Amino acid sequence: MTAPYFSFDRVSFVYPNGTKAIEDLTLTIPTGKKIAILGENGSGKSTLFKLLMGLERPTEGVISFQGKPIQYTKKGLKHLRQQVGLVFQEADNQLFASTVKQDILYGPLNLDWSAAKVNAQVSKAIALTELEELEERPIHFLSGGQKKRVTIAGVYAMEPHVLILDEPTSSLDYYFSTQLTDYLQKLDTNDRTFLYATHQINLVYEWADLYIVLHKGKLLFVGGREDLFTNDALLTTAHIEKPWIVSIVNLLRSSNPHWELMSFPDTKESLVAEINMLQKQSTS
Ligand SMILES: Nc1ncnc2c1ncn2[C@@H]1O[C@H](COP(=O)(O)OP(=O)(O)OP(=O)(O)O)[C@@H](O)[C@H]1O
Ligand SMILES: [Mg+2]
Repeated sequence: MTAPYFSFDRVSFVYPNGTKAIEDLTLTIPTGKKIAILGENGSGKSTLFKLLMGLERPTEGVISFQGKPIQYTKKGLKHLRQQVGLVFQEADNQLFASTVKQDILYGPLNLDWSAAKVNAQVSKAIALTELEELEERPIHFLSGGQKKRVTIAGVYAMEPHVLILDEPTSSLDYYFSTQLTDYLQKLDTNDRTFLYATHQINLVYEWADLYIVLHKGKLLFVGGREDLFTNDALLTTAHIEKPWIVSIVNLLRSSNPHWELMSFPDTKESLVAEINMLQKQSTS
């Protein structure tokens, strides 16, 4: 069996000003999962991502990549960043080329791909994020949401094995926010791992198959939907909103004894199907 992409062994991280952002974190990130990273403002999500990209080094403990401690050399970090892509929370921290297309090209050009493959991947990412008309536009003439789409396209074009998104929808409108999960679906293969930090729980609810919750820099929870969304105390501590599907199922469970064992469905369509089935059972 191949080693998981990332594992943390008793990792702590303190910023130079003394803020303890990650505390004694031991965690293996399973390969091939769609993982939602949740937690209140300041809980350590973005810091965790910086550690995963080797942008910061643990103050204590070890982070392993593919079974070996991350090598913080130029070569070691290149190896890591060829396989792991991060869409930063702040697009301005990520974009640096002069035009949209040049920025999207930057990552793929560093992947030892042929020129034909680089161009094909960049064109695909531009089409997907609907940036064709903005290709030649200088980055500083873009709106906030357009900049965010450029960062998403840049990472998407690289098709990394581990794709990390730090509040990717924070400046996207409704249309592009909902499109994002479709983009991710297109990259969803059994061995690709996604880490997606967000406060917009309804956007990840249908998509995620594992939840990791941080609280004040510590690991508070790792597990599935049912365990997370039935733990009211944990949701309150970590400032996590209940997805609307969960709230409806809770109301249905308490409204009718036949519905007490109803599960949390993935989608609104499966919710309706389950209601119809339970209704038939209770009248037959
Ligand atoms: N550059 C920095 N220097 C000092 N402290 C920092 C720095 N960046 C973040 N912090 C602190 O580290 C802690 C974790 O911050 P982090 O940005 O990782 O949280 P987060 O979970 O991503 O929050 P949010 O939901 O607001 O994005 C916070 O207490 C924050 O104030
Ligand atoms: Mg953050």
